Amino acid sequence: RLLAGAKGPLAGRTAIVTSGPTHEPIDPVRYIANRSSGRQGHAIAAALARLGADVTLVSGPVSIADPSGVRTIHVERAEEMRVAVESQLPADLAVMVAAVADWRVAGAADQKIKKRHGGGPPTLELAENPDILKTVGHHPQRPKLVVGFAAETQDLDQNALQKLQRKGADLIVANDVSPETGVMGGRRNRVKIVSANGIQDWPDMSKDEVAERLAALIAERLGDA
Ligand code: CTP
Ligand code: CA
Repeated sequence: RLLAGAKGPLAGRTAIVTSGPTHEPIDPVRYIANRSSGRQGHAIAAALARLGADVTLVSGPVSIADPSGVRTIHVERAEEMRVAVESQLPADLAVMVAAVADWRVAGAADQKIKKRHGGGPPTLELAENPDILKTVGHHPQRPKLVVGFAAETQDLDQNALQKLQRKGADLIVANDVSPETGVMGGRRNRVKIVSANGIQDWPDMSKDEVAERLAALIAERLGDA
C-alpha cells in the first residue's frame, strides 16, 4: 500500500495517526466524549504525508474535512479505533493524537432511555476502554517509532514522563489543556517534547506548525533508526 513515486525523507515509510475524540454510546441517541476538534491530529497526518509517508488516519467523529494525501478510516468508539489501528500493523511509525474516552458505558441501552417522571435520573455504570497507545507501544509488531500525546491540566512534566514509560512510547508531546490556554478547540498550541533525552520546550505556534516540526523530528529520529 505504498504510494508509488512518493518523495521526501519519509518516502517508503508507513504511518498510523489517530485523531479526534471517541464517542461512547449511552443509548442510540446519547454519548459521552472528550473535547477534541481533530485539528492537531489531522495536521500531523497531513504533514507526515507531505514528507512522503504512506499515512492511514484513524479519526473519531470530527467536523473538519479529511486531510488530503491520506487514507482516512472513520470510527466512533474507542474499541473500533483500537481494531482499526491494529489492522494497520505492521507500520513504521504511529502517532496517537486522539482524545480517546477513557471509559465507555457498560451495557449501553439498545433503546432510548426515557425520563422516569418522578423517578430521578439513571445511574451510568462505566467500564474502562482499551488504551490504544499502550497497546501499540507494547505490541509484538511495535512500530519503530511510537509517539503519544499527554493532555494535562496540572503537573505536566511529571505526568508526561510517566506516560512515556507506562505506554512504551519513544516521544510524548505534552500540552497544557487548561481552559485558559485555549488549546482545546483552538488553532494554536504550545507543547513540550518529552523523550528519554529530556524535555524540550517549543514556543507557542499554530497547530499546523507543531505538526510540521513534529513530522520533521519524526523523520530525523527514523533516519537514525
Ligand atoms: N490514549 C489511547 N487510548 C486511550 C487513552 C489514551 O491511545 N484509551 C492515548 C492518547 O491518544 C494520547 C495518550 O494516550 O496519545 C495520552 O492520553 P491521556 O488521556 O493524556 O492519558 P491517559 O493514559 O488516558 O491518562 P489520563 O487521562 O488519566 O491523564
Ligand atoms: Ca485519558
